[in-house]
Amino acid sequence: MSNKPKTTMYKEEVEKKQQKSKDVQINIYPEVTFHKVSRYIYSQFAEHLGRCIYGGIWVGEGSKIKNEQGIRCDTIEALKKLSLPALRWPGGCFADNYHWIDGIGPRKKRPRRYNLWWNQPETNQFGTDEFMLLCRLIETEPYICLNVGSGTVEEARSWVEYCNSTQSTAVVQMRKNNGHPKPYNVKFWGIGNENWWCGGNMRPEYYANLYRLFATYVRQTAGESVKLIACGSHQDIPHWDERFLEAMKGAYNLVDYISLHIYSRVDGSDINFSEEEYYSLIASIDVMDKHISRTIELTKAFSSYGHPIGVVMDEWGSWYKEAVIENGLYQQNTMRDAMFAAATFHCFHKHANGLFMTNMAQTANVLQALILTKGQHLIVTPTYHVYEMFRPHQDGKLVACNITNNPVLTLPNGKEQEAISVSVTSSEAENELFLSILNLDLHEDFTVTFRLYIESQWEIIQVRRLTTKDIREHNTFDEPRKVWPEEISIEDIKREHRMNLPPHSITTVRLRIL
Ligand code: AHR
Repeated sequence: MSNKPKTTMYKEEVEKKQQKSKDVQINIYPEVTFHKVSRYIYSQFAEHLGRCIYGGIWVGEGSKIKNEQGIRCDTIEALKKLSLPALRWPGGCFADNYHWIDGIGPRKKRPRRYNLWWNQPETNQFGTDEFMLLCRLIETEPYICLNVGSGTVEEARSWVEYCNSTQSTAVVQMRKNNGHPKPYNVKFWGIGNENWWCGGNMRPEYYANLYRLFATYVRQTAGESVKLIACGSHQDIPHWDERFLEAMKGAYNLVDYISLHIYSRVDGSDINFSEEEYYSLIASIDVMDKHISRTIELTKAFSSYGHPIGVVMDEWGSWYKEAVIENGLYQQNTMRDAMFAAATFHCFHKHANGLFMTNMAQTANVLQALILTKGQHLIVTPTYHVYEMFRPHQDGKLVACNITNNPVLTLPNGKEQEAISVSVTSSEAENELFLSILNLDLHEDFTVTFRLYIESQWEIIQVRRLTTKDIREHNTFDEPRKVWPEEISIEDIKREHRMNLPPHSITTVRLRIL
């Protein structure tokens, strides 16, 4: 048995198995398009957990930190740039212990409550009206998760009334008295969270009965235009979805989407990880890939022509050993997380014929966060840059493409993985193609040539790249711009239709068809 460190052994193994050809061709067929990549795939999730809401988003009007009616201005500025389509709130596990009535009205009078899951008191300073303000300021749509585990049907129903109704009622009057005469018209409503665990340890049949009850009252209050999202499975309990859907017989019109939660937990730490652990994280996308495929097939079987049931994944992301309840699930975020997010989005694009929305966990200071804050300081993470760089994919049409001579990596799960991953979408309005190209290899760079199967002329109009010398690099409060995308000069690329892809890099290319 060799006493070499595991990382070195793994690297040698990978190198042996790699096909060493360095010239790769990306073939694009702009006239062959598939489904739309729903913009909601780029949505987010913010919970009353650790410093996500309190500190990361909400500081209060009296804070020294510059704020807009209590919401920190730097957070607003950072999030607004991402065009996030929807934001899920208030949890997570917190949702099934949250009573919305505690979080409205004069803030001084709001009660402090027990936050059952995250070991911190809930001050209720950030409630429904503050959440709606946040959504307005960052130009995103609200997605509210209702309390099924410890709430009543009437409590859930009246929250919907508070948000969406225009009738002259006492509940609507409360909203008006709180300064909001117009309804918020919240479209997305989740009926409970992880009800197979923190949301009540229920069996799928029991949850289905509660779902029928809650969904009936919510739908009757809000009307047909709202979308109801059921708690679905995670990868280890696939039977949950089948049993839930079987038990919903006769009431499928109440289920618009079923929601999956899949976290990628790998050994090792957030910033001190081995190469093998990087590849393991990439390999974990396969679990999501399979589970999404399976759930899309299943929901199709329970859909009818008039009422399709779609899939969402309203919690996903990396989860390292540093993120524990004691630190509010805080972890750092490196170039590895950016590669993982980008490769996962490529997987989501492929499934976007059935996958409608995904919400990475979580927006600030928790798990695979977009932003990290420390007092008055804020930094954006490598993952943030992926959301920013990939914006043109939102609502684009997936375009057919393939790769000639794609080098192959062998991942720790034994599966083979192509080193170059490409996703192409088109925007009809702009007559443009948008490409994201990942080189997942940690050591090799490759030269890619673009070939478009189209008679019209075309030109490359912009190339941007996110990469680092070391995959472990990350932004810190001392070095906030260490990992930052750069604009690549396109003179040579334009002429030769060729460019180099450095190891572990994310490149985006805008192409115009003339
Ligand atoms: O995102 C952290 C927690 O992970 C959520 O509250 C819960 O839904 C999941 O288990």
